[in-house]
Amino acid sequence: MKIIETAGDMQVVAEQARLKGKKISFVPTMGYLHEGHLSLVRMARKLGDLLVVSIFVNPSQFAPHEDFETYPRNFQRDFDMVEKEGVDILFTPKPDDIYPEGYQTYVNLEKLPNHLCGISRPAFFRGVATVVTKLFNIVKPHTAVFGKKDYQQFLVIRRMVFDLNMDIDIVGGETIREPDGLAMSSRNAYLTASQRKSGLSLNQALLAAQKAVESGITDASQIIRETKDFIDSHPETQIDYVTICDPETLEEIHVINRPALMALAVKVGSTRLIDNMILNKK
Ligand code: PAF
Repeated sequence: MKIIETAGDMQVVAEQARLKGKKISFVPTMGYLHEGHLSLVRMARKLGDLLVVSIFVNPSQFAPHEDFETYPRNFQRDFDMVEKEGVDILFTPKPDDIYPEGYQTYVNLEKLPNHLCGISRPAFFRGVATVVTKLFNIVKPHTAVFGKKDYQQFLVIRRMVFDLNMDIDIVGGETIREPDGLAMSSRNAYLTASQRKSGLSLNQALLAAQKAVESGITDASQIIRETKDFIDSHPETQIDYVTICDPETLEEIHVINRPALMALAVKVGSTRLIDNMILNKK
């Protein structure tokens, strides 16, 4: 596996690969990899001839009070994990290379960021859309794979790619869970044993909501109320949002008479966890 550390070198290698007719598949990450990332890497492996993974903890998607400085990092562990998966190139740019002095260009979407995580993290999707655009211009992928645990991020990127005529296929990977149901996330590393137990309430609440819908309940406000009560009953939880909404526009849904996205964000201690599920009558 080749490590490339600068945007310039990555662009040269990507261009040469394209000239040779190779298909580039790409998984952008912020490192501290887990099985969820590896499942995306395995999907991407099948979708191209040159598989690129990037590790870049993107400063522009963190607000000043968020965890940019303490975000978990372990390069050697990440390197070993992706090397085993047969990744061809690990791209690890430095912040100064991505955001050189005088940097002033950002990508904004008008509607999708005004829901769910975008409400309590107003700078987040601007940072994500900007860095993903830059990474796409540098890595020049034909296909890029993103996890659907970050469902809103997946929609934002798919919309951005469509709106800006980027010639890239965006593929979504399903959420990978720990055996007890906790959605895998690099931030799970912050949780103490008791917080981790409280963290399970997100998945449990989603499963209970799905059961409620299967039993014929269609009133979204009832399910949201019950979910909030359930999560609130766990120590150290502080709900950011519990929403049932349209899986494409993220506009709220009041009556569940078609597939609906249920999405949650909950702080457990000081760690913000998110999870989601498509509720379906079956
Ligand atoms: O999901 C992530 O890890 C990040 O938001 C991404 C897409 C790599 C952009 O920094």
